[in-house]
Amino acid sequence: MSTEIKKIAVFTSGGDAPGMNAAIRAVVRASIYYDKEVFAVYRGYEGMIDNDIVPLDARSVGNIIQRGGTILKSARSKEFRTPEGRKQAYDNLRARGIDALVGIGGDGTFTGLHKFYEEFKMPVICIPGTIDNDLPGTDYTIGYDTATNTAVEAIDKIRDTALSHNRLFFIEVMGRDSGYIAINSGIAGGAIAAIIPEEKMTTDELIATLDKSDKRSSLVIVAEGGKSGSAIEIAKQVNEKFSYYDTKVTILGHLQRGGSPSYFDRVLASKMGIAAIEGLIQGKTDVMVGVRDKTMVYNDFVTTMNKDREIEPELLRIAKILSI
Ligand code: F6P
Repeated sequence: MSTEIKKIAVFTSGGDAPGMNAAIRAVVRASIYYDKEVFAVYRGYEGMIDNDIVPLDARSVGNIIQRGGTILKSARSKEFRTPEGRKQAYDNLRARGIDALVGIGGDGTFTGLHKFYEEFKMPVICIPGTIDNDLPGTDYTIGYDTATNTAVEAIDKIRDTALSHNRLFFIEVMGRDSGYIAINSGIAGGAIAAIIPEEKMTTDELIATLDKSDKRSSLVIVAEGGKSGSAIEIAKQVNEKFSYYDTKVTILGHLQRGGSPSYFDRVLASKMGIAAIEGLIQGKTDVMVGVRDKTMVYNDFVTTMNKDREIEPELLRIAKILSI
């Protein structure tokens, strides 16, 4: 393989996130700007194995910056976890002369790219696209801002009905192993507590917080990955101890993944897409683009993925002060 990259393929993988389309657009246009040919791989690693690969031009990505989801579709591929699957994917890419890969997704996407680089030495770069904001090495992932705004909008609506009926609502938000959506939507939505995977709040502690409060209705945000159980389970435990609480549960679920991306996610995705192509041209590989303190950075796989993305202690402090 020559050292100068000439043909780049882009794909999205894992859970979709608002802003992925803006990132695809930036990758495609930056590639063309720097005189590279660019290809789309549909359905992530699945499509790479099935040879679902098509060339793109600058106009292929028109009118998508404002759209949620991913025009390239997404999938979670079991076959790509096997050496045979990866070899097939590599052969399909090489048959078209593709010599570099840009993947947009979360930790599974980055792990797949790393494996691919280790085996075939094809330059690869990851753009963090996931609503969870759970990747170390970047202050923000694409889609997180929009998803949190969606959660806050829903929480505001639930608050109206909670107040009218003096009810205690448990609202479950997404975030497989991450409490970022929960803690920030909790602060922004005026919740009495947010139960997150990074912090073990027992149901007794929650009950003590509720008990101390003279509020007639309250909102508790529960991250789906929390150690105390799901919102349904926690609501049940609270009810067993305090049957006078009229409790209700709302699971926001996949509605947090859809919708038009916020301005923040569109700009973040545009910057990251360009940084990915410029990084490849500069010879970077096996890295994930990130933004730290407003500066674009490239995070090496091994050092980045060995760390957990921690929740900012300041957010926990703020949530605690405001929960009285
Ligand atoms: O990683 C993003 C995410 O939305 C998580 O918050 C959630 O746990 C998971 O994906 C859901 O995945 P799926 O859409 O495959 O059920």
